[in-house]
Amino acid sequence: MNDCDVAGLTSSELFNHFGFDRIIDRTTTPSIKWQAYEPDVLPMWVADMDFRSPPAVMQALHARVEHGIFGYEQDPSELRELIIERLARLYDWHVNPEAIVFLPGIVAGFNLATRAFVNADEGLLVQTPVYMHIVEAARDAGVQSHDMRLTRQEDGHYTVDMDVFEETITSQTRLFLLCNPHNPVGRVYMRAELEAMAEICLRRKVLICSDEIHSDLIFNDHRHIPIATLSPEVEAQTVTLMAPSKTFNIAGLHCGYAVIPNADLRRRYRRARGGLVGTASLLGYTAAEAAYAEGELWLRTLLKYLEGNRDLMIRYLAEHLPQLKMRAPQGTYLAWIDCRGAGLAQSPARYFLEKGRVAFNEGAAFGPGGEGFIRLNFGCPRELLLDGLERMRKALA
Ligand SMILES: Cc1ncc(COP(=O)(O)O)c(C=O)c1O
Repeated sequence: MNDCDVAGLTSSELFNHFGFDRIIDRTTTPSIKWQAYEPDVLPMWVADMDFRSPPAVMQALHARVEHGIFGYEQDPSELRELIIERLARLYDWHVNPEAIVFLPGIVAGFNLATRAFVNADEGLLVQTPVYMHIVEAARDAGVQSHDMRLTRQEDGHYTVDMDVFEETITSQTRLFLLCNPHNPVGRVYMRAELEAMAEICLRRKVLICSDEIHSDLIFNDHRHIPIATLSPEVEAQTVTLMAPSKTFNIAGLHCGYAVIPNADLRRRYRRARGGLVGTASLLGYTAAEAAYAEGELWLRTLLKYLEGNRDLMIRYLAEHLPQLKMRAPQGTYLAWIDCRGAGLAQSPARYFLEKGRVAFNEGAAFGPGGEGFIRLNFGCPRELLLDGLERMRKALA
């Protein structure tokens, strides 16, 4: 059955149709999430979901596998067109087909940007706590790290202090690596915040690389705005990174892309590949094309399911674990939980692993400001989520 055959069903019928409540054994497949710990540990760490991809993706992959020949792929012009149409539809962002540069993944994408635009004596600006490979990007490229901390308010809401942002930039800062929606703090930045950061970058001649891998995972009342869409001037100095990988749970198929409308930036970016960074994978292209062409209903249903998980967590923590503080993320399927009130300022993830047999990411891995926090991945069937929450409760009992 295609997605379009099932429109008209209620949310719970759609959850059922797409199998979001179904627990699928992943321990038999090579999964980093499910094989890193002993079998009795419930893994709620690495950011992939425990859901099957949209039916259309599986059908397209079956058909491609059935073909049986897997030689070097041609640049997929249909996918390029789908992406362009999608950017126009979702963000009123109109780019030419050649602006899209396919990538094996987004980590490769921002590391490539760092190598393309920052020399050894120059700096990369990141805002911590942030996705660990972003924290590590400056060191990985052998460039200076110009870090600032996000500001955490009393209620757990994170903001960017624009004075600190401006003060962090020196004459050597070449590139700002933005994460929006933000992993792990769950912010979907508003237009005014993006405008303020972009204005400073333009004025201080700092290029922007915007990691927008979570841009489809946005909850009610929030809207994703690619920073490059703010103005032609911002667009001209921005590399935007997007992918269907988080959205449709196909990270292992390796397909992402950079949107670089500025031809000069694009040339420098491509040149930095240096024969080391390839393009997306053949099956990644197949899956991405099917997901973008036919996965919309699945995605809308997923968002409803994730929102239900998110709200269940908030209720559960308030009722049973009030010493843990979590603010509802505006996007992503990642919860950022402050464990300091439970006396777990040091290594809370290790505590939950040892005492509760449940695996989270340690907040400290996300850089300064992450200590005493855990990141919990709630992209899973509700029964598993409840199991994880129960394990936390028992660990703290
Ligand atoms: C912000 C962010 N960027 C990049 C990635 C990984 O991207 P990829 O697997 O395409 O390299 C993740 C995965 O969690 C992420 O959260």
